[in-house]
Amino acid sequence: MITSVLPTYNRAPLTFVKGEGTWLIEADGRRFLDLGAGIAVNALGHAHPALTQALTDQAGTLWHTSNLYHIPQQQALADKLVAATFADTVFFTNSGTEACELAVKMARKYWYDKGHPEKVDIITFSGSFHGRSSAGIAASGSEKMTKGFGPLLPGFTHLAFGDHDAIEPAITETTAAILVEPVQGEGGIIPIPDQCLKGLRDLCDEKGILLILDEVQCGVGRTGKLFAHEWAGIEPDIMMVAKGIGGGFPLGAVLATEDAASGMTAGTHGSTYGGNPLGCAVGCAVLDIVADPKFLDDVNRKAGLLRQKLEGLVAAHPDVFELVRGSGLMLGIKCKVPCGDVVAAGYEKEVITVPAADNTIRLLPPLTITDEELATAVERLDAAAQTVAA
Ligand SMILES: Cc1ncc(COP(=O)(O)O)c(C=O)c1O
Repeated sequence: MITSVLPTYNRAPLTFVKGEGTWLIEADGRRFLDLGAGIAVNALGHAHPALTQALTDQAGTLWHTSNLYHIPQQQALADKLVAATFADTVFFTNSGTEACELAVKMARKYWYDKGHPEKVDIITFSGSFHGRSSAGIAASGSEKMTKGFGPLLPGFTHLAFGDHDAIEPAITETTAAILVEPVQGEGGIIPIPDQCLKGLRDLCDEKGILLILDEVQCGVGRTGKLFAHEWAGIEPDIMMVAKGIGGGFPLGAVLATEDAASGMTAGTHGSTYGGNPLGCAVGCAVLDIVADPKFLDDVNRKAGLLRQKLEGLVAAHPDVFELVRGSGLMLGIKCKVPCGDVVAAGYEKEVITVPAADNTIRLLPPLTITDEELATAVERLDAAAQTVAA
């Protein structure tokens, strides 16, 4: 008999009932160190006082009005994002998937309005993940996500990740944009080297096509810059954001330059909930903390510390682990044993990690994790690796 919750997830046998900073408390009282942060969502940990305050203040004032009216919290968050990034304008969504939908529509409308309705194709890469909507799965193109869900939305050209030589010949008269994650998340925490991201930007400029970055997982301080592309010294035309920006409240956004967004006039797109007062009040509180250069300096310091400890962990368990990769506090350990076994052994030792493709476990802790918690986390991963090896 089907479960009352649609069984699309293989859930771990854990039920968390409370969160405190980097800690998740199970219904039976066990305290887990959370290196998953709800898949890179709880950027400031659980129950951060500033976010709790922002949410409860807003909840006691006004929850929802719709985008038929001006929303001061939405305006404030858009102004902050525009001030802190390449973007001239922002549309708020409730998720990363919806950000993907708009990014695709925006790129196509851009070319339509410029008199090139034939430019509809978007180049994407193997191992990418852009959400589970019809556009999202078509963009990713993997069999795992698309099988049985056809006919797929046309207009995506899938290239092998890392095959530089394939990109230029794939750009044709019908190409609208390249869409890429600066650090692949679901694909196994695989960063695009800065030089390659610069190369993609140059190629887009040379060919006159748009560069769309999916920073849903790698954005909002995760890599030690407010947005990951800043490491490469480039700017996209359109960027998808979600996860960390809401710190746990469902919130996403599409950021764009004035030119890239020029087709999106009144009536071309919408959302009942997107940018509602609750989400944007929390988003403002998140951004006020994460965009502070001192906060990001500390993320980078801790990232260096964690990376060093993880290199030691991999060296200590050569039968279990292969390598560490990633950027900032978005780290992956590629495993030699099934990564699900390592994640499950972690549960036994009360440390949470998240499996990803390419047999990799993901470490995406709250950016507020302390040095002491980092040390404890690696001790617990070490104990988990010992049980797996045994
Ligand atoms: C890079 C990337 N894009 C898009 C999405 C989809 O976001 P959401 O699950 O909020 O719809 C995700 C989610 O994991 C993601 O990692």
